[in-house]
Amino acid sequence: MQIVILDTPQQVANYGADRFADQLKHKPDSVLGLATGSTPIALYSALTARVQRGELSFANARTFNLDEYLGLAGSHPQSYRYFMNEHLFQHLDIALANTAVPDGATDNPLAACDAYEAAIQVAGGIDLQLLGIGRNGHIGFNEPSSSLASRTRVKTLTPDTVKANQRFFADGEFQPHLSITMGIGTIMEARQILLLATGQSKSAAVRAMVEGPLAARCPASILQMHPKATLVLDRAAASQLEDVAFYQYIEQENQRLPGV
Ligand code: F6R
Repeated sequence: MQIVILDTPQQVANYGADRFADQLKHKPDSVLGLATGSTPIALYSALTARVQRGELSFANARTFNLDEYLGLAGSHPQSYRYFMNEHLFQHLDIALANTAVPDGATDNPLAACDAYEAAIQVAGGIDLQLLGIGRNGHIGFNEPSSSLASRTRVKTLTPDTVKANQRFFADGEFQPHLSITMGIGTIMEARQILLLATGQSKSAAVRAMVEGPLAARCPASILQMHPKATLVLDRAAASQLEDVAFYQYIEQENQRLPGV
């Protein structure tokens, strides 16, 4: 794992935008895996600004989102499809037909999960997968105890995740407790992974991911097994790591090596 520790959440977002820009310049028809949540919003603003300044294009890219609430149609303001349209897609030069989010309104979730896996394969697999991390170490909606080999499927959200996301729903509004999520095995097949984490509330999960044992208890710990995973943290998210000085030393050394 490459561990990059930056001072502020904005620097984390800018680093992420640079990685997406490099990917698209190197391969304009990249297949990009995307995430929702609070963390990527600043990254999506940075990407939007670059596209609008004409510095970057998503015209030939395809995207696959990690997850969606089961029971919400894409027109629902709390659906992840709606979030992606609002925060990213409608500001980019990408056709909506080239953006995929699992169908939360499906009446056949099992078939929808299989079709999602197949669509990723047909697109050639994911080149760069963006991830956030839950306070409990989840990636996508793969909650603790998820099989580390899992594929896209229906998952029950933990009460902690439901509570963390309650802020987006009005009092008394239906809030789904089920989701469709890419599996951990699916995520691990991405050629490169970029996980962003900001804020103190993520620091325990970040520590378990980086310095804890590989365990279904912390699904993000599987990234220890990925050959090209970059974790970009702000100081608050990195604050419980024991070996910060070593990670920073490695980064300094890497910058002196050409092509790393
Ligand atoms: C969202 C997703 C989740 C979030 C995680 C962190 O598509 O897959 O795993 O990345 O819950 O969410 P935020 O960024 O809101 O803290």
